Amino acid sequence: MADDKSRSGVEFYADKKILDYLATLHAPHDQGLAAAFDAPGVPRIMVGPSEGKLLTLLVRLANAKIVVEVGTLAGYSAIRMAAGLRPGGRVYSIEYEQKHADLARAAIERAGMSDRIEVIVGAALEVLPKLDALGPVDVVFIDADKGNYDRYGEWAERALRPGGLLLGDNAFYFGRLLEDSAEAKAMRRFHERATLAFDTVCVPTPDGLLVGIKR
Ligand code: SAH
Ligand code: DHB
Ligand code: MG
Repeated sequence: MADDKSRSGVEFYADKKILDYLATLHAPHDQGLAAAFDAPGVPRIMVGPSEGKLLTLLVRLANAKIVVEVGTLAGYSAIRMAAGLRPGGRVYSIEYEQKHADLARAAIERAGMSDRIEVIVGAALEVLPKLDALGPVDVVFIDADKGNYDRYGEWAERALRPGGLLLGDNAFYFGRLLEDSAEAKAMRRFHERATLAFDTVCVPTPDGLLVGIKR
């Protein structure tokens, strides 16, 4: 370990009690977002309140007017990102499942965000090329099918303005990033390509968040 310069020697100190204390303090759950966070009949795979708060802050830091999200589910992360938009800005969120899109639109309405979020139903690989018409985008958040992350990343690389922000959830691929599966390989290609076109870091959220600024 003495010669290992890939990490500092400091342990990972944040145990569950510390994380709970800090999440409650800095990023408490917002009851107004219950329709998005506790949507009936959808898997509980949305980002957590702390990652949601981080998304709000990052979108705000990017002074973003146009955000593209791949994977809406029930709208939780879209709402959290919309809260950081510059006035007049918009989140375009792509969702394959009509049922998820319907729940998301209802939750977005309840959150008072309907004028800031547009849910687009379809397969992301088909929808993304149509979003080229938006012009350069400020933030892309990727959070859908993991086997296509490399292709979503390629689109983001083209669509983002210089200085624009690339965000990728599940960057640890559920702890399986280094395995041999097609999905794990796609996720590694996503990481590797990102380092070529972006200044990047992987933030150790529960399942990892890739953060990159386009050069
Ligand atoms: N970003 C959401 C969670 C997204 S979960 C949040 O944090 O609140 C992943 C979503 O991606 C699911 O709703 C799933 O239906 C959708 N999805 C999966 N494959 C897709 C594809 N090819 N195109 C668009 N959406 C897809
Ligand atoms: C799953 C997907 C996600 O995007 C996530 O953040 C957690 C879990 C899933 O498909 O199980
Ligand atoms: Mg995710």
